[in-house]
Amino acid sequence: MATVTITDVWKYYGKTMAVKDLNIDVRDNEFLCLLGPSGCGKSSTLRMIAGLEFISSGDIYFGDVRVNDVPPKDRDIAMVFENYALYPHKTVFENLANPLKFQKMNRADITERVEWAAEMLQISELLQRKPVELSGGQKQRTAIGRAIVREPKVFLFDEPIAHLDAKLRSHMRGELKHLQRRLETTTIYVTHDQLEGMTMADRIAVMHEGVLQQLGTPGDIYNHPVNEFVAGFVGEPPMNFLDCRIERVGDSVSLVNDNIKLVLGGDQVRRLEEKSAAGEVRLGIRPDDLSVEMGRDHGFAIDAKIFVTEPLGGDMLVDAELGKDRVTVKRKIAEMGQPGEPCGISLNIEKLHVFDRESGEAIF
Ligand SMILES: Nc1ncnc2c1ncn2[C@@H]1O[C@H](COP(=O)(O)OP(=O)(O)OP(=O)(O)O)[C@@H](O)[C@H]1O
Ligand SMILES: [Mg+2]
Repeated sequence: MATVTITDVWKYYGKTMAVKDLNIDVRDNEFLCLLGPSGCGKSSTLRMIAGLEFISSGDIYFGDVRVNDVPPKDRDIAMVFENYALYPHKTVFENLANPLKFQKMNRADITERVEWAAEMLQISELLQRKPVELSGGQKQRTAIGRAIVREPKVFLFDEPIAHLDAKLRSHMRGELKHLQRRLETTTIYVTHDQLEGMTMADRIAVMHEGVLQQLGTPGDIYNHPVNEFVAGFVGEPPMNFLDCRIERVGDSVSLVNDNIKLVLGGDQVRRLEEKSAAGEVRLGIRPDDLSVEMGRDHGFAIDAKIFVTEPLGGDMLVDAELGKDRVTVKRKIAEMGQPGEPCGISLNIEKLHVFDRESGEAIF
């Protein structure tokens, strides 16, 4: 069983707090992604799991075994970093064979293992080349190959594809996910790229300033973010946020500002009441949950003006101005629309998110 349990873990570098009271249970065979912006404590967490960094307080378990004091080489892990170092004077074959030689595996078994990994990573034809003769993506796969030949208990990846170009990154996302499912090895994968988390992970742990914000499936995180930070970090283009106030007239409850008035449904009103929300809030709505129509006779609830349109090929991003606010709408429309032209906006009320203005916590 290769579960990894992080219990009440803190990390300080001198006075700098990098990780605060972290609790995460990584399940057997799970692909767990640590996601968050630069400096949020992802690498510190991964390095504590690897045993490369002292744990200031708290415990880390592999299965039932507390590993705080177990040296890295005895943890049965394999790591791949962004700046992986291949041995420059060794061939790809020798680079892959090296960890197995350390394990004193016999020659025939080493060859078999290296060939198996090379085939899986589609680098079989490159085995006799030196790293200098490889492309970035081929070097990357060699580094991953060196990690997987050993069949470790746990894979630890720290931004392993961050420096590749967009096309190769997209290819490698698919390959890594496929590989992890095929090898069925517990994997902890650090990235600041929400798309990597969303596409590859079974569950995502979103971190911010050393604090775990939310742990859930990509669907949970996207559809039910627990606070404004998570809502804004996950999703591209990001969620739109608008300051509003709650207005009650008779039985009807609305979100209102200078440009909009949205009458809320019964469930939404109940959630506001459960959380005793009143007064000022933040409305959140994803670009996919807005519609736009060009022209003055739009028939939509909200009058707006085109700020800019950005064609993406199939879809179009329309940035529209609602008074002093601006929202991004993602739509399939043929018309470009010129800056300053009038348009209408409508919101899918069921997809609204509302956050406490002060704490940022989700009300719904
Ligand atoms: N060796 C160190 N000494 C002092 N402070 C450090 C050290 N390593 C990291 N930090 C600090 O700890 C915090 C967390 O750093 P960490 O490297 O874990 O972030 P990260 O989430 O991996 O960021 P990035 O996406 O930029 O790699 C940051 O404020 C960083 O400046
Ligand atoms: Mg890092």
